[in-house]
Amino acid sequence: MVSQVGALHRHIALVGFMGAGKTTLGREVARLAERSFVDTDDEIARRHGPIAQLFEERGEPEFRALEEAVVLEALASPDPAVIALGGGAVETKGVREALDRQFPVRLEVDVEAAWERVRGGERPLARDEGTFRELFARRQELYASYPGVSDADSVLLRSLAVMVAAGSLGSVAEIAGPSGTLVADEHVLGLHRPVGQWKVHTVPAGETAKDLEVVQRLWEAFELERAGTITALGGGATTDTAGFAAATFLRGVRWVAVPTTLVGQVDAAIGGKTGINLAGGKNLVGAFHLPEHVVADPDVLVTLPDRERRQGMAEVVKIGLLSGRGVWDLPEEEMIRACAAFKCAVVLGDPYEQGRRAILNLGHTFGHALEAASDFSVPHGDAVALGLLAALRLSGQPTDVVDKLLSPHPVRVDRERAWAALKRDKKSADGRTRLVLLPEPGKPEYGVDLPDGDVHAALDSLIAD
Ligand SMILES: NC(=O)c1ccc[n+]([C@@H]2O[C@H](COP(=O)([O-])OP(=O)(O)OC[C@H]3O[C@@H](n4cnc5c(N)ncnc54)[C@H](O)[C@@H]3O)[C@@H](O)[C@H]2O)c1
Repeated sequence: MVSQVGALHRHIALVGFMGAGKTTLGREVARLAERSFVDTDDEIARRHGPIAQLFEERGEPEFRALEEAVVLEALASPDPAVIALGGGAVETKGVREALDRQFPVRLEVDVEAAWERVRGGERPLARDEGTFRELFARRQELYASYPGVSDADSVLLRSLAVMVAAGSLGSVAEIAGPSGTLVADEHVLGLHRPVGQWKVHTVPAGETAKDLEVVQRLWEAFELERAGTITALGGGATTDTAGFAAATFLRGVRWVAVPTTLVGQVDAAIGGKTGINLAGGKNLVGAFHLPEHVVADPDVLVTLPDRERRQGMAEVVKIGLLSGRGVWDLPEEEMIRACAAFKCAVVLGDPYEQGRRAILNLGHTFGHALEAASDFSVPHGDAVALGLLAALRLSGQPTDVVDKLLSPHPVRVDRERAWAALKRDKKSADGRTRLVLLPEPGKPEYGVDLPDGDVHAALDSLIAD
């Protein structure tokens, strides 16, 4: 079923008062999510001449009519874009109605900051401070119905309904609605039980949950109607399993992810990939099914064992390298927020992994090979940490960040088995292994085909004798 979650298939429309910075922010969001950007004021000026002149010569009502036509055309274009609207566009009823079918957000600004930014400029409605302040006060009512955002990360998170906030576990029942079906990792449930009346279905802790028998048990036990919602509490294994059960039960019901591991909060719970394992390999059966909400409460990580935190840090370092931001230096909640926002940006640009979403596999081709060759005794994050070393070496980049933050040690696995597993990697095309490399921090390339000898040598360097 086509997801209606957030801005996945809709335009992100930025509304807000003049001087809020909608154009700058819109450009940034569009760049991060690889969407096109439209500034409707620029478009009006391009078609009809400078806005100040239009106001002067034709008056505000005629300007609003021209504006409405341009805004409606932008909002009707088929490819989801990021669209910055002029401050007064929401005065027009037709614009407000069209916005209701898209994903509008309001960029917040206070009147002082707005006035400082626009005074002395060309804007026709910002010539006199008194009138400017009156207009600001009057418009607040119109803007109030749109959710507020403050920066690019908050737009991206909101676009996929992801909340990262300490203490948010307390709001899960309210966010998920009244049906109260909770699928929980049995270990986690003993540590962090969300308040509310729940019909609880436990699944085994960790990876053993990702099994068809577990899913079948859930299907048979659910007492949900199609309008119901499943809430998943646990790490990536639980959200993958419960999300898959939600994708398939009654041909798809809504679900809410409440990730309780660092891996889950920065990666696994976001983006709608759900699935289970088969004897022949991990994640071989699954579906794309976006959670209606992701509620990530960093406070629940206090009980996370160090070993599990390390797995999450491997994904954090990966995201920092991909985004070119030293996210690992941020305080924990901000770090999670920045990583989650980056994942949202990638998913918004390529929801079904037709192209760029593959960058999230940086280091994973090597990591998966080492995991498989160890019969999965090497944890995923430790294997990814080694994989990042290989990807950086092949990219000609320094490995100091990975060395310092993740201290990866070569693992003892059979070299031939690891090579065979790498060649079987499901991301290969035409029998060739396709790699993600990082020629520069923040500038990943995917689908890179390198000579077998180079790839083999890079893999060998991760294996201890
Ligand atoms: N869907 C995706 O896009 C995606 C992305 C990355 C990983 N994954 C999947 O995620 C899974 C790994 O998830 P994970 O690393 O979150 O681990 P996990 O879900 O396997 O949990 C690991 C362990 O941590 C425990 N735990 C969870 N939260 C805890 C807490 N707050 N306090 C104490 N213990 C806690 C669990 O009981 C379990 O024993 C893999 O199956 C992987 O394939 C999916």
